[in-house]
Amino acid sequence: MDLGLRNKVAFVAASSDGLGKAVAMELAKEGATVIINGRNKEKLEQTKKEIEHKCNTKVLAISGDLSNDNKRNSVLNTLFKHHNKVDILVTNTGGPPSGKFENLSMDDWDNTYKLLLASTVALVKAVIPGMKQQQFGRIIAITSQAVKQPVDNLILSNSVRASVAGLMKTLASELGEFNITVNNVMPGYTKTNRLLSLIESNPSFKSAIDEIPLKRFGNPEEFAAAVTFLASERASYITGTSLAVDGGWIKHIL
Ligand SMILES: NC(=O)c1ccc[n+]([C@@H]2O[C@H](COP(=O)([O-])OP(=O)(O)OC[C@H]3O[C@@H](n4cnc5c(N)ncnc54)[C@H](OP(=O)(O)O)[C@@H]3O)[C@@H](O)[C@H]2O)c1
Repeated sequence: MDLGLRNKVAFVAASSDGLGKAVAMELAKEGATVIINGRNKEKLEQTKKEIEHKCNTKVLAISGDLSNDNKRNSVLNTLFKHHNKVDILVTNTGGPPSGKFENLSMDDWDNTYKLLLASTVALVKAVIPGMKQQQFGRIIAITSQAVKQPVDNLILSNSVRASVAGLMKTLASELGEFNITVNNVMPGYTKTNRLLSLIESNPSFKSAIDEIPLKRFGNPEEFAAAVTFLASERASYITGTSLAVDGGWIKHIL
């Protein structure tokens, strides 16, 4: 299947590692021009080299913390210095801290809002004018299975990610007439450094495998394949959806 991704410009937020990196790699393999991001410059540079080497392409790497207004603006300024539009936006950041309600402060809640919701709103705002002008766009949010079923000990994620899903669903209605699709992809337990550190801080995460019908954690490449399809020309009639890539973990029927 030709996904029609050749020469499409794709900004994958928070993509020096984990799910974002796998998505950037897959999009680059399909011929998209990829822009990657992360806070740690060294790690970002390594990932840039790895994608360039494996996909025989040029990658633009822009470091900066997307939860910080000034740093995010500087990332966007650099991006638009190199490209006058973005065809595909994949929103993502690291996850918020784990913990139960009584152990978390108001600062934890404020920071989670900035990390998950404000960063998504700002990135979407930046790409919409170009997408509208060219009457084409793909916006995909990386959220979590927590959108549909709360995960124990992750109250910050359980609460704030649902608002990102609400944002995506509403944007799908508002932007459809411009041929911009907006979707939400919900990773389940996937083997990345984030999952390893959650398991380290709370070994009960390991037993989550028993609750997954496929009886294993996912691989980042499996997640990336779903996002890449949604980013493609071939997903032209899919918008406003929330797609779980969770090995069947979520227990609701629809
Ligand atoms: N893996 C799972 O099982 C799973 C399941 C459900 C949901 N999720 C969610 O999916 C997202 C990605 O998870 P992951 O497993 O890929 O995490 P990860 O392995 O920790 O990778 C996170 C990536 O994002 C970058 N990053 C983190 N915070 C950032 C920020 N504020 N601004 C810019 N870049 C940032 C990191 O690089 P730097 O540290 O250098 O910035 C890294 O490249 C997270 O929100 C996570 O909570 C993951």
